[in-house]
Amino acid sequence: MGKEIKNLIIVGITKKGETFRPSDWAERLCSLTSLLKNDKRVKYSQLVRPGCTPAGVKTVIVSPGLYKADPLAWKFVLDFAKDHNLQFESIPVFPAYTAVAETFRARHSVRRFLPTPVSRDVIAELLELASRSPSGTNAQPWKVYALADAARAALSAALLDRFNQGASEEREYGYYPDQWAEPWQSRRRKLGFDLYGLIGIPKGDKPRMKEQAGRNFLFFDAPVGLIFTLDRHLTQGMLLDYGIFIGHLIIAAQARGLASCMQTSFTDYPDTVHRHLGISEQELIVGGLALGHPDPESPENHLITEREPVEAFTVFRGF
Ligand SMILES: Cc1cc2nc3c(=O)[nH]c(=O)nc-3n(C[C@H](O)[C@H](O)[C@H](O)COP(=O)(O)O)c2cc1C
Repeated sequence: MGKEIKNLIIVGITKKGETFRPSDWAERLCSLTSLLKNDKRVKYSQLVRPGCTPAGVKTVIVSPGLYKADPLAWKFVLDFAKDHNLQFESIPVFPAYTAVAETFRARHSVRRFLPTPVSRDVIAELLELASRSPSGTNAQPWKVYALADAARAALSAALLDRFNQGASEEREYGYYPDQWAEPWQSRRRKLGFDLYGLIGIPKGDKPRMKEQAGRNFLFFDAPVGLIFTLDRHLTQGMLLDYGIFIGHLIIAAQARGLASCMQTSFTDYPDTVHRHLGISEQELIVGGLALGHPDPESPENHLITEREPVEAFTVFRGF
């Protein structure tokens, strides 16, 4: 391989301009380096993965990492493209982009943490990075209560107590719709089904479902719990800025070797959160975040949720 590292993109069109057949050639080629997951679905390797041109032509994207990981596989894929006279192009790899992309792909919500502590310095560093987020008029609407150790445990105990009593408090803002519609209802059901399935909670086992829901208030045992608030002087639109801030925070945490789970469950008990943490009524409880080192052994942490393909949620025009 030359000095410059490049991604190789094999396009499903021959050099004569004909569409390459069979139509599932890309999936077949990628399956050589894929894994078959427990649920029988194929998980493609990030080194050889199917893609698509903006015009809808199938492609196979081959990362230069394949050359390092398996030079024979790299040669095989290259020979495949050459033997079938397929068009291919090389695009430069941007190391920062690769690292960011890997971080995005590795992040997923973790719902069981190790007790390993995370220092105040690390949390402050992550929050400082997240505060580089853009916000309308640079308003920076975020305010964070960072809780560890006894402070986190005390809030958790107060909330779990309320939850176990079956208490209800008025939500400060409607996060979930009152009535779910499709396709969101199915996605929500699938998440619950997959999560409970991994933990081994059978459908209808209400006591265990409740116990699992209650773990939200323990920040899923994370050593650090964050509570986010928004001053009520600010408007609903600022939740947009907040989402960017939290998004950046969880990506920074992931890149720092930590895991997280965003939680709106704390908005179920805003009065308790206000009272317990002495938060002014002027502040709206936006949600919380569990932060720490993931427990690699726990089945719920192996949940990798699906995403719709880009074409399903994007209208491309003028490309
Ligand atoms: C705003 C927001 C609120 C969420 N609230 C909860 C929650 O209260 N409890 C929970 O277990 N997961 C919660 N999640 C995590 C989602 O279930 C999760 O992000 C989604 O299923 C996608 O999975 P992934 O994060 O593993 O990619 C929340 C996520 C977001 C973005």
